[in-house]
Amino acid sequence: MEVTEFNVREVKEEEIKDVVEINRKSLPENYSIDYFYYHLREFGDLFLVASIEKEKKRTIAGYSMSRIEFGLSNFSFSFVRKGHIISIAVLEKYRNKGIGFSLMKETLERMKKAGAKEAYLEVRVTNYPAIHLYKKLNFVVINRIISYYSDGEDAYVMAVNFRNQSNLS
Ligand SMILES: CC(C)(COP(=O)(O)OP(=O)(O)OC[C@H]1O[C@@H](n2cnc3c(N)ncnc32)[C@H](O)[C@@H]1OP(=O)(O)O)[C@@H](O)C(=O)NCCC(=O)NCCS
Repeated sequence: MEVTEFNVREVKEEEIKDVVEINRKSLPENYSIDYFYYHLREFGDLFLVASIEKEKKRTIAGYSMSRIEFGLSNFSFSFVRKGHIISIAVLEKYRNKGIGFSLMKETLERMKKAGAKEAYLEVRVTNYPAIHLYKKLNFVVINRIISYYSDGEDAYVMAVNFRNQSNLS
C-alpha cells in the first residue's frame, strides 16, 4: 500500500468548505454550514483536519468535529464532562491509511486535556469500518437507539472511559 503522509491539525476557517464537501460525499448526515461554523467558533480545538501536502498542493483528506458536553456519565451515576464526536469522515480515496485513527486519537487526547472523563459517539449498526476503528480505540457499545437515523437505521452509542485506561494507543 502506498504510504501517504498527512498532518492532523485544527481546521482553518477557509477550509470549512472542504470539510462540508467531504461530509456531503461521505455521509448521509449532512449538517447545515452554520452547524460547522458553530463548532469552529465554540470548539475549534476539537475540530481537526488531516491535510496532505504534495507537489505544493494541499488536500484536506478528512475531518473530525467534536465538542465537550456536561451530562450524565455513560459509566457511572454521576454528571461529567464528556467529549462527543459529532462527525468524522475521510475521502474514499484516502481511507485505510490510518487517517481516521489519527484524527480520533488526537481528538481523544485533546478531550482529555480539556478535562473530559469519557467520550461517546453514535454510529450506524452496519458501519463496520467505523465500528472497527472505534473498538481499536477502546470504545464499547453501551446502547442501541432504534431508528436513530432518518432512514430508519439503528445507531449504536459507543463510549470510552478515560478514567480506567492509561493510554489510548
Ligand atoms: C470511518 C472512517 C472515518 C475511517 O477512516 P480511515 O481513514 O479509513 O480509518 P483508518 O485507516 O484509520 O482505519 C480503518 C480501519 O477500518 C478497517 N476496515 C475497513 N473496512 C472494513 C470493513 N468493511 N469491516 C471492518 N473493518 C474495516 C480497516 O482495516 C482499518 O482497520 P485496521 O487498521 O485495523 O486494518 C472512514 O471509513 C469514513 O470516512 N467512512 C465514511 C464516513 C463514516 O462512516 N464516518 C463515521 C460515522 S460514525
